[in-house]
Amino acid sequence: MNSFGRKFKISIFGESHGKSVGVTIDGCPPGIKLDEADFLSDLDRRKSGAKGTTPRQETDLPEIISGVFNGFSTGAPITIIFKNEDTRSKDYSKLKEHPRPGHADFTAFKKYNGFNDYRGGGHFSARLTLALVSAGVVAKKLISPIDIRAQLISVHGNSNIEQAIDDAISKGESVGAIVECIASNLPVGLGEPFFDSVESVISHLVFAIPAIKGIEFGSGFKAAQMYGSEHNDLILDESGKTSSNHAAGINGGITNGNEIVFRIAVKPTSSISKAQETFNLKTGKLEQLMIGGRHDVCVALRVPVILEAVTAIALADFFLISGLNHLTNT
Ligand SMILES: Cc1cc2nc3c(=O)[nH]c(=O)nc-3n(C[C@H](O)[C@H](O)[C@H](O)COP(=O)(O)O)c2cc1C
Repeated sequence: MNSFGRKFKISIFGESHGKSVGVTIDGCPPGIKLDEADFLSDLDRRKSGAKGTTPRQETDLPEIISGVFNGFSTGAPITIIFKNEDTRSKDYSKLKEHPRPGHADFTAFKKYNGFNDYRGGGHFSARLTLALVSAGVVAKKLISPIDIRAQLISVHGNSNIEQAIDDAISKGESVGAIVECIASNLPVGLGEPFFDSVESVISHLVFAIPAIKGIEFGSGFKAAQMYGSEHNDLILDESGKTSSNHAAGINGGITNGNEIVFRIAVKPTSSISKAQETFNLKTGKLEQLMIGGRHDVCVALRVPVILEAVTAIALADFFLISGLNHLTNT
């Protein structure tokens, strides 16, 4: 299933080397100012091109094919598509029998009885994050003036990001990273107790981003080493403002008016240029694998805007569940 949301519902579709990838957003209220140009700055931030990212070059131009009329959302489902142009499927022919360690080749092959499109990772490709980023652009507009910013904190444990990338490239390696996200200007009261807590729903969406392996809110795992007197955030006034923010702006699953702060762990890219071994699904033997194709050395370099997008999607859903209205919210 590739859908998410109670009120702000998104479905993503496509494959890396298929005709296109895209998203349908159902439940988006009418009256949101929207055209293709609004997507470009966030889509640009997701693009490859910087050192440590894949040489695959796509134009990533969005085409809105439904749900927008005269520059505003109509209330009908919004569908946005992106053409795949720079594909080189022959690079992947070997991977049908040689699943890449750490990638979804093996699980997809088994789950879909070999009918999966394995070219460029197929439906598991990070191309699908174009769909998340574009849904995020709509969600960010809906929840304005809530502001969401994510940034890379460290790569391979090193806050000198360039040095860490250079080191990985020189070794033919890939590297992971930590990305931090902060949402501010939040109202008190978004989120539901227990199953739809703000932490649960953000985490649900965060793990929809490929290659994410961990998340911590506020003081996170350090909370386990703190005293209650240290961890408790002193409430200073009626707005809920606190003197510290160990809880990351969330109590009882509900926003308390302070910033939501969380960090995610992004794993090193599974497709590396070093020789590895893998199980050959045809011959039943372990064999050497040299991975072709074009890959990111550090996928996290492209993750901040995707992280902002999924956070905005989670908050947009809560926003609509709470009965807030974007037209009166700004
Ligand atoms: C922006 C982005 C770019 C990625 N680029 C690559 C890549 O070039 N090569 C690769 O093997 N994996 C890449 N990945 C990660 C895979 O998509 C991911 O590891 C794979 O789908 C398996 O999912 P999992 O790691 O969540 O288990 C990328 C992920 C993101 C978010």
